[in-house]
Amino acid sequence: MSNPVFETVRTVLAVREYQDKPIPNDVLGRIVEAGHLSASASNVQPWHFVVVTDRTGLRELGGLVAHGPYIAGAGAAIVVAYEKANHLGISDVSRAIQSMILVAWGDGVGSNWTGFGELEGVRKKVGLPDKYEVLAVVPFGYPKRAIGKGKKKRKPLAEVASAEQYGTPFKL
Ligand SMILES: Cc1cc2nc3c(=O)[nH]c(=O)nc-3n(C[C@H](O)[C@H](O)[C@H](O)COP(=O)(O)O)c2cc1C
Repeated sequence: MSNPVFETVRTVLAVREYQDKPIPNDVLGRIVEAGHLSASASNVQPWHFVVVTDRTGLRELGGLVAHGPYIAGAGAAIVVAYEKANHLGISDVSRAIQSMILVAWGDGVGSNWTGFGELEGVRKKVGLPDKYEVLAVVPFGYPKRAIGKGKKKRKPLAEVASAEQYGTPFKL
């Protein structure tokens, strides 16, 4: 029996090139809502999401994230920040990022995680107060080309999963 959630996880890939086509408001809203609805430790929700769609703003973000210059060509980008006093904040926003990436892919929108902390310039650019740390910027857009959908380069399952005890390879 097919499982649409598994199919989304199986096929989603990092998308770094986007069509020059806006993301409809309802789709973008669903992506943001996916972050908002994600679980966090003790339900504290120590996060803030800044949604950037303005082309000039996207270009500026592309210039501020060392490993994400292609944000400049995205239809939208979400700056994901957590309250730095919260020691579980990174785990919480990581979960929200994954929710947003999967929901976007379910709507045919590609995305990717860019950056990992040290995004002080991004925090200042979008006006987030000092209590926040930006963990990542996630660009979204319709993929420019089919990029080996579903073909993932991963270690063999038996190398990274054990049955009952470490060292007994888990088999499907
Ligand atoms: C925590 C994290 C940080 C990442 N940072 C970047 C980044 O800064 N720039 C980038 O282009 N890709 C980044 N990626 C994407 C990964 O490189 C990509 O997902 C991985 O190579 C596997 O490729 P696939 O998702 O297409 O299977 C990041 C992914 C994760 C989970």
